[in-house]
Amino acid sequence: MPQNLKGRSFLTLKDFTSQEIAYLLTLSADLKAKKRAGIRGELLKGKNIALIFEKPSTRTRCAFTVACIDEGAHPEYLGKNDIQLGHKEDVKDTARVLGRMFDGIEFRGFKQSVVEELAAFAGVPVWNGLTDRYHPTQILADFLTLQENFGCLKGLKLVYCGDGRNNMGNSLMIGSAKMGIHFTIAAPESLFPEKGLIEECRGIAAQTGAVLEFETNAKKAVAGAHALYTDVWASMGEEDKLAERKALLGSYQINAELMASTGRSDTIFLHCLPAVKGNEVTEDVFESAASKVFDEAENRLHTIKAVMVATIGNI
Ligand code: CP
Ligand code: NVA
Repeated sequence: MPQNLKGRSFLTLKDFTSQEIAYLLTLSADLKAKKRAGIRGELLKGKNIALIFEKPSTRTRCAFTVACIDEGAHPEYLGKNDIQLGHKEDVKDTARVLGRMFDGIEFRGFKQSVVEELAAFAGVPVWNGLTDRYHPTQILADFLTLQENFGCLKGLKLVYCGDGRNNMGNSLMIGSAKMGIHFTIAAPESLFPEKGLIEECRGIAAQTGAVLEFETNAKKAVAGAHALYTDVWASMGEEDKLAERKALLGSYQINAELMASTGRSDTIFLHCLPAVKGNEVTEDVFESAASKVFDEAENRLHTIKAVMVATIGNI
């Protein structure tokens, strides 16, 4: 069912309904097929897109850039030393300037409040390319990959092992609640998502049939899982926490034994990447046939393209 997302920002998965997320995934699959067929389009023709990066990026930056070029837009990369955002210029002033020149703005950085302020003042759609709190575009790629492997999302069991209160834990929980997924976080209690967000997601889950669980025993958590997911133990900006996290998260590493503990032969392994092999995942699982991490990385392109096309494109 087509949905009208024109002019909308994407700051967290809470911004979109389950139907809108499903629509974005269908559009992503269509755009993927189009790209595979070698067809360049004009769905973003004449658009100028600002790409603000306070933190480094391989996938997100390249996905936005290539998606723009595939569909006729011009991407402009603005690194942290290129503009005054938040240093010599108020965020709301930069937002109003960029909004006069660009048709859409991607922001990757630290504070969720900055991407929210950009969206409040830019007058054009703003897309969250990762903050300390959320990474919503990543979840679309993860869900497209799940859909490709299992044909659906509703009723799948997805288990996230590791730092459950980081941007990935938070965003996977919201996305799963929206899409009726059985989502389990396997982590020590001190790394569970914050209570307020869990309650909010439980409210969403009550409408969609999603199940949300929080488990300290990794082996118990993964039973019956269609997919095991993990992320780095110390996110960008909190590298000083690595020693502490290694001590806390050792038993949540995704290794061959944990994969086997799902009791399913078709369990897949997912990771947003970049990965630190030997920490959150072993090299053998990362390189195994069950690992779909490069499909998932490619899907960043198709899903990010869908977000831009749906919110500012010529459709
Ligand atoms: N997964 C992801 O966001 O990767 P990058 O940090 O390389 O953009
Ligand atoms: N949690 C990670 C995700 C990287 C895509 C980080 O914020 O560094």
